[in-house]
Amino acid sequence: MGISCSGDCFVDYYVSRETLNEGFCMNCDFLVIGSGIAGLSYALKCAELGEVVVVTKKKDVDTATNLAQGGIAAVLEENDSVTSHVEDTLLSGAGLCDEAVVRMVVEGGPDRVQDLIDLGVAFVRDKGNSSGYSLGREGGHSHRRVVHAYDLTGREIERALLDRVRGHDRIRLLEEHVVVDLLLVQGKVEGWGAFNDKKCVGAYVMAGSGVVEPYMAKITALCCGGVGKVYLYTTNPDIATGDGVAMAFRAGAEVQNMEFVQFHPTCLYHSEEKNFLISEAVRGEGGVLVGADGIPFMAKYDDRKDLATRDTVARAIDKELKETGEDCVFLDITHREAEYLKDRFPTIYKRCLNRGIDITKDKIPVVPAAHYMCGGVKTDKYGRSSVPGLLVLGETACTGLHGGNRLASNSLLEAVVFADSAAKYCSKVWSELQNQNNLSADKWVSGDARKLSEEILINHNWDSIRRVMWNYVGIVRSTERLALAKKRMEFIYAEIDLHYREYTVTPNMVELRNISLVALLIIQSAMYRKESRGLHYMMDYPDQSSSLVQTVFRKSDSKNTWELEMLEGGNRWGSN
Ligand code: SIN
Repeated sequence: MGISCSGDCFVDYYVSRETLNEGFCMNCDFLVIGSGIAGLSYALKCAELGEVVVVTKKKDVDTATNLAQGGIAAVLEENDSVTSHVEDTLLSGAGLCDEAVVRMVVEGGPDRVQDLIDLGVAFVRDKGNSSGYSLGREGGHSHRRVVHAYDLTGREIERALLDRVRGHDRIRLLEEHVVVDLLLVQGKVEGWGAFNDKKCVGAYVMAGSGVVEPYMAKITALCCGGVGKVYLYTTNPDIATGDGVAMAFRAGAEVQNMEFVQFHPTCLYHSEEKNFLISEAVRGEGGVLVGADGIPFMAKYDDRKDLATRDTVARAIDKELKETGEDCVFLDITHREAEYLKDRFPTIYKRCLNRGIDITKDKIPVVPAAHYMCGGVKTDKYGRSSVPGLLVLGETACTGLHGGNRLASNSLLEAVVFADSAAKYCSKVWSELQNQNNLSADKWVSGDARKLSEEILINHNWDSIRRVMWNYVGIVRSTERLALAKKRMEFIYAEIDLHYREYTVTPNMVELRNISLVALLIIQSAMYRKESRGLHYMMDYPDQSSSLVQTVFRKSDSKNTWELEMLEGGNRWGSN
């Protein structure tokens, strides 16, 4: 047996119970795991209450936020309305959104955008609009409502938030710190509901040295981004290995709607470019999808043509590619003036030009790629998971906003609205939290773990997972493909699990263990949904079922298996 912890904490594999209180133990009020928009926004607000530690597994800017091109959807113009943004979100979500959550997020949008502006985010201005800001349009939106910083919106937001966080005397930002697992103890958190008998009190964190140490906190927030790396082709950065979902699931949290993986229709198709997105804003500004023959095809699939929602557009491209046998389709925006395109899409223009594609003259070769996980750890309106003491924010969470298909540019919005409501919850219970005694932490014990001498074992499993998921659990699915995927993934998962127990834990192994669990959760959820809805399309169940169900998994007590529950929408824990 490789790893263990001792004393009162619970992790997956657990050998001795000797108390080892000597050695390093980080103690803070708020532990934040992840340094994207959700984590940093929440950290800044919680720093008004107490000491915050933010851990991030790579560098602070290695986040999905940093790559976000589009912007933040919010009702800012006089001719727009909350009702319209709510309706667009519900329509995109294919019946599975939680309407109260949608309303809460849309109503909170203008104030949270103002928060970002106050923090120094420079959104592009336009005096011609009543809001004073330039507003982009994206698929599924009936109005122009996306505030942006050209096609560098995420980078600008990340820059502004990091500027504040780095200089803050109550926030410690620790780079290259990999979280291995959450720390659980028997107990409750006041007002959280008695859903679980164990509460989260921090995490085991591996620093650059490879040593794993306990980081204790009154409240822990998982803001680890998404799961894109589970697929061979993705627009996500390398950090998107599903760490948050996997750790929360292992800790006993409910995980919801994992079958709803959003494939972005337009990722640049080029042998030297791994994950470069061509923003949906390009279609918002008139870009048209055409085949190799130059003929537009979206009118065949949807009246909204190129501005249909992403599920429809990605499936249409998939069908065109399968029918024509071509490797990619093309996005044509050459009819817009060259100077306008260079100004509005500076990053896309330069990156494509580096690859010999002048977007002012050439059609851009594109393919769909995994982009966003609409499911995740189930939370309530404060971002509380079903594990007391554990908040989950941003893409890691399933709040009820996105339903079966996220509306474009609603994700940064969700991150800031939930970061705010989570911080408000912390503020509300702060006096009780302060009275909570700091728990003693137990040392991580490596037992008789050996060093894995052949990294090839890890790399091979990475490759297998990503190919199985791409080929069998992609845009179009079937019962047969899913069954094959499950069989293969169970085998791979068992092998990885064995390695995790027997060998010294490394960052690569932590990520592989997490992504293999996430792959199984996606497959299992997809098998359960015997209908086609939103992003989940099953060839043998092409129609929507008449009943609306959310797919919810929770780990069962027996190791390495999980229970499946079907719940009506809504949250079942926490009342205040
Ligand atoms: C894009 O710019 O197309 C991505 C925006 C989003 O995913 O919401």
